[in-house]
Amino acid sequence: MLDARAKQEYQRRIAELREQLEDLRERGDEDRAARVENEIDFLLREFARAVGLGGRDRRAGSAAERARLNVTRAIKSALQKISEHHGQLGDLLDRSIRTGSFSCYLANSRNPITWRFSLDNGVKPSVGVEVTAPVFSRPQTSLVQSLGDRTTFVGRETERSALSRMLERALGGDGGVVMIEGALGVGKTRIAAEFAAEASARGFVTLVGSCYDRENSLPFNPFVEILESAMAQSTSQEAFRTALGNDAGEMARLMPQLRRLFPDIPAPLELSPEQSRRILFNAVVELLGRTAANGPMLLLFEDLHWADEGTLSLLNHIARSISKLPVLMLGTFRDNEIDSSGPLAQTLDELLRIHMLERINLRGLPQSGVVEMIRALSGKEPPQAVVNLIFSGTDGNPFFIEELFRHLVERGKLIGANGEFRTDVNLAEIDVPQSLRLVIGRRFARLSDEARKILGPAAVIGRSFTFELLEASTNLDADSLLDCVEEVEKAGLIYSTLGYPEASFQFSHELIRNVVLGDLSAPRRQRLHLNVVSGIERVHVNALEDHAGDLAHHLWQAGRAADPDKTVQFLALAAQQALKQSAYEGALRYFQNALELLKVLPYSQERARRELDIQLDYGLALLATKGWYAPEMGSTYRRAHELCQSLDDDHKLFSVLSGLWSYHLVRGEHTMAISYTDEMTRLAPRMQNDGMLVQADWASGCSRFFKGQFTQAHECLERGRGLYDRQRHKALAFQFGQDPSVSCHSFDAMTLWILGYPDQAEKKAQEAIRLARDLGYPFTLTWCLSMIGMYYSMRRDYAGAERVIEEGLTLTKEYGFSFFAESLIAYRLIGAAFQGRIDQMTTGGGKEGGFAAAGYELAHTWARSSIAEALGNLGQVDIGLALLAEARELMERNDERYVESEIYRIHGELKLKQAPRTSSTSTGVSKAASEAEQSFLKAVEIARARSAKTLELRAAVSLSRMLMESGRQAEALPLLQPIHDWFSEGFDWPELLAAKSMLADLKSTSVSAADPKRPISSLAR
Ligand SMILES: Nc1ncnc2c1ncn2[C@@H]1O[C@H](COP(=O)(O)OP(=O)(O)OP(=O)(O)O)[C@@H](O)[C@H]1O
Ligand SMILES: [Mg+2]
Repeated sequence: MLDARAKQEYQRRIAELREQLEDLRERGDEDRAARVENEIDFLLREFARAVGLGGRDRRAGSAAERARLNVTRAIKSALQKISEHHGQLGDLLDRSIRTGSFSCYLANSRNPITWRFSLDNGVKPSVGVEVTAPVFSRPQTSLVQSLGDRTTFVGRETERSALSRMLERALGGDGGVVMIEGALGVGKTRIAAEFAAEASARGFVTLVGSCYDRENSLPFNPFVEILESAMAQSTSQEAFRTALGNDAGEMARLMPQLRRLFPDIPAPLELSPEQSRRILFNAVVELLGRTAANGPMLLLFEDLHWADEGTLSLLNHIARSISKLPVLMLGTFRDNEIDSSGPLAQTLDELLRIHMLERINLRGLPQSGVVEMIRALSGKEPPQAVVNLIFSGTDGNPFFIEELFRHLVERGKLIGANGEFRTDVNLAEIDVPQSLRLVIGRRFARLSDEARKILGPAAVIGRSFTFELLEASTNLDADSLLDCVEEVEKAGLIYSTLGYPEASFQFSHELIRNVVLGDLSAPRRQRLHLNVVSGIERVHVNALEDHAGDLAHHLWQAGRAADPDKTVQFLALAAQQALKQSAYEGALRYFQNALELLKVLPYSQERARRELDIQLDYGLALLATKGWYAPEMGSTYRRAHELCQSLDDDHKLFSVLSGLWSYHLVRGEHTMAISYTDEMTRLAPRMQNDGMLVQADWASGCSRFFKGQFTQAHECLERGRGLYDRQRHKALAFQFGQDPSVSCHSFDAMTLWILGYPDQAEKKAQEAIRLARDLGYPFTLTWCLSMIGMYYSMRRDYAGAERVIEEGLTLTKEYGFSFFAESLIAYRLIGAAFQGRIDQMTTGGGKEGGFAAAGYELAHTWARSSIAEALGNLGQVDIGLALLAEARELMERNDERYVESEIYRIHGELKLKQAPRTSSTSTGVSKAASEAEQSFLKAVEIARARSAKTLELRAAVSLSRMLMESGRQAEALPLLQPIHDWFSEGFDWPELLAAKSMLADLKSTSVSAADPKRPISSLAR
């Protein structure tokens, strides 16, 4: 930093040297002239560094940091002294004095102190309650404050006016979401900051949260930062606490330090991950609603291309609730760094679909903008040659413009000794750097050795870091560290922001940090991560769990340098925290890393126990994200099985068996699946645990259903349902993935329908949905809707199916259960095909839609045969027959028999349809007809053997229709009549009505039927 006098001194010395230079040149003393010229260049560079290139004074955030440090030290030692004399007062002051960038005494309105001099040691502060003041005192964020250090903002008029329009609408209570997208350095953050300044000026409370480029970003990080800045901007801690109201408990899940600050916050509820996510999301929305009632708000989400899945889901959730609130959400992201099918792209699609999103695409500045920027950077009018040079080298990208400009100035290429642009600037002469990476590298080279050394530790901490953590991680003394930080800041590589609870520094660009990291050798980087771990442990000694995510990240990155036991411990802790926040993707990564590391630890009972717990939690996270059929599910549960056996842990063994059963079931591996249900059935009574009995019954019922053993299936499902006690068993869902009673109901609906009880089936289906809704577990409800979708599709009630499909799809999007979406879309496709909407079939994603997922073979026999039948109805008989052959092949391979009779019936139907097209001869026709008849007969026979009355009726109707059409009514009547008469309910069910009318037709025409060619009385009853 230079004061006015120092500046004058610099300028005087430069003028002196210039005179000398002219003199020496005139005298022809080239050697000395060159030395003087060098000195002038050197002074100019130093001068530019100190005052900024345009001659503006730089604000050094580190000077503020130095002041903060000194003031904090002074206050802390004063408090120490007070505590020694008066412990209680010391305590109270400790709680009420906030140090940091803005040290202040926070009067606690709930505990006002009456100051009174007294000789009596017993005087205690009195306690009273006061009404709180407005929540926010400084509606400006650090982002806006940091604008003070930046160059003049140029261009972007169109974008600014679009943003202003949205601001206007939000002020009128018409909230929305706007996304600013563009390449690295194109100016997204800058325009967002400018806009935030405008919003602040118009009375918006502006809160900012960022996402970071880390393998394991902290779940919901932007929201955590938003909460932190809300707290920093609130008038007092008390006001902030009051504003949180009943949602404080939920907010404390995002910001655990709240619990320490406000001990009155109640303990969190023990809920399932999905349920607690829903409650958390709703609490955020409610809090936002209440806060926005006091005034407009702007929430700014930076760098969403790095957002975790939880953040995007929450953003999506909030977006749905702000259309009538004065709330504007603004996001920035690098458009070329997002995956078109990734979660951000999906969120954007979703927001567009609900008409809540406006997108602003930022491109490089036009040439006129480049002129303005250079003018702003240099304080002078640039010649055209310079503009052309910079424009062509940067494509108008402001970050590149700044970097290139600095580079050229520092190399003395742009500004001459007279302080003006050099007129002899020659494009060919200027070494435009190959890449910006190089430019940045060169800027490092100009730093002192000490300053350069702090870059590594800083970059390893992250894009932003606090002085305190850097100090604790480097073991340097505060003063010399400050000198270094100051030097780096002056070089423009980092900048400081004054935020809560203290100043933090940011690399001025991620690219700069990348270059620093890239220059570190792998072992050095590991060492530095380990130092950061020690730093965190020192700084947050009493709150390590609050930093589990950071610790896990640094320990993992430290690799072999770290103690593997400790790394596993924090990875598991971070994973569980992520699981509690329903941040499944993050949880998965932590678990995977923990499991990988466990492999290198020597075997011990303790290690095995730890691994078993991690494997089981990992299984739950996998289930929520990838579904039962993911191959990792199998290996996870198989490993857990081994561990249970080695540990003799029967209690956990049951969960593992249940996991293995689901895994094999959905892969269509019924024989394996049944072997696990048998084990479960044997283990449950031994454990004297009726919850396990319910689960065992559900599993057996379900497996038997797919085997086509409908009567036994019904018995198991009915028994499981009867044993279930809502109060005692509602937590089973978290142990086994979904509620077993809902499962029993859903499958019993299908079983009862097949067994010939359409009314009871419908009742069961309705009960299943009602129960799932009452429980309020999104996973269970989505699963239930999916199963009931299948039930309606089997019933051919496509309107009923559509209702549940629609609701189910909404849930899958909201909670990211993409595997359910696949089945639901497949049901929709089947419905469309049956209703003759072939266009949807062809555009709907392959021959059987979403069922193509790897490894998922459950229910394919049904899906394929249903589509085959629909295709037949649409005249695509050959494709239908091919699909049916596949269904049959799967049926044989997996021994999945529940639609066996349907497969034969459909075969008959397709054969009949094929006959007239492929055979011109009457023998051809009769051959096809006889094949069809054989298939129908087989279908009836199988349905009978399985007591599948509904399927028997279907097969009998098909066969009777065929017989009728060939004049064999007399044979049809004894076939159809008994099965029709068997039904004692479902009299308004269309298929039974159709059978009834067919019977009437048969009776009216059977008089004329004569002489059956081949009696089928063996089937008549
Ligand atoms: N319109 C502008 N006028 C003047 N300077 C600008 C403008 N836009 C951006 N800048 C400057 O260019 C640099 C890069 O801009 P910024 O950080 O906003 O880029 P970004 O798009 O957010 O990059 P990233 O993708 O890396 O986050 C900053 O120093 C910023 O102040
Ligand atoms: Mg940015």
